[in-house]
Amino acid sequence: MALFASRPLVGIYPGSFDPPTNGHLDLLSRGAPLFERLVVAILRNTQKEPLFPVEERIQMIREAASHLQNVEVESFEGLLVDYAARRGANALLRGIRAVSDYEAELQMALLNRRMGGIETIFLMAGEEFSFLSSRMIKEIATLGGDVSSFVPAGVAARVRKKFPAQR
Ligand code: PNS
Repeated sequence: MALFASRPLVGIYPGSFDPPTNGHLDLLSRGAPLFERLVVAILRNTQKEPLFPVEERIQMIREAASHLQNVEVESFEGLLVDYAARRGANALLRGIRAVSDYEAELQMALLNRRMGGIETIFLMAGEEFSFLSSRMIKEIATLGGDVSSFVPAGVAARVRKKFPAQR
């Protein structure tokens, strides 16, 4: 813990957030007080065709997290550890919903620690959000379902605009 005690904790909460869900926002709200500053970092992934462009995802999280004073939102490209070093971050924040998340998260956390000497702090997802994923939100929305109880209001409005046939 000496790493954390020596200077204020600056965290990075990385992800795709396509789109941000209530689960992401819950994790952000519970994670933010643990850090001096927490940066939500959205990966610019040129290999994946996103539902929402990065700029819109930044906007959606900024709106939904506007009550969190120490949270910033931006995008990054390349290796997370390089971005974290540029931002002067000393910890990463990730959520775990179920055992099925564990293996991939373990691999990422160990790789990031080996490559960048940076620790990952895990929070358990809120139990009422543990079934949520951006992938399922996209699928439901694409098939005309209502996602308004799964995502922040601003996100739901944008999803409705994209899929006007939504019930
Ligand atoms: O929301 P996601 O899709 O689970 O987030 C995954 C993310 C963006 C955190 C991860 O893919 C990532 O950090 N990508 C950046 C590239 C990188 O550093 N890869 C090696 C470490 S696993």
